[in-house]
Amino acid sequence: VTREWSDWRDGWIWWIQSVYVDPPRRRRGVYAALHRHVLEQARLAGDVVGLRLYVDRANRAAQRTYERLGMAPSHYVLYEQGGAPRP
Ligand SMILES: CC(C)(COP(=O)(O)OP(=O)(O)OC[C@H]1O[C@@H](n2cnc3c(N)ncnc32)[C@H](O)[C@@H]1OP(=O)(O)O)[C@@H](O)C(=O)NCCC(=O)NCCS
Repeated sequence: VTREWSDWRDGWIWWIQSVYVDPPRRRRGVYAALHRHVLEQARLAGDVVGLRLYVDRANRAAQRTYERLGMAPSHYVLYEQGGAPRP
């Protein structure tokens, strides 16, 4: 989990990063347990306004997993610029 301050929402957003479950152990609730743990820790922290994560547009399996756990696609579109761009 990495943290990002949201000035708009006046609180911390926790980003779940680099999720990977060993293939033979998938579909047994491993990620669900991890997700619920992070959610519980965020609630206990008291100053967390939401959880976010990145997922590849083509990764439908992961998207379905997150949706089963109550997440929904954000209305934001992500923009980026590679490397150390020259002005
Ligand atoms: C995506 C991933 C993390 C899911 O982990 P997991 O431990 O298998 O997921 P869980 O068993 O906890 O499943 C949680 C829920 O998502 C659903 N789900 C999991 N994998 C799914 C799939 N391939 N298709 C549809 N639904 C799926 C489960 O059915 C479960 O819902 P349910 O309890 O109502 O049945 C795992 O498949 C993975 O590591 N994939 C490769 C790496 C990857 O894509 N990471 C995501 C990067 S953003």
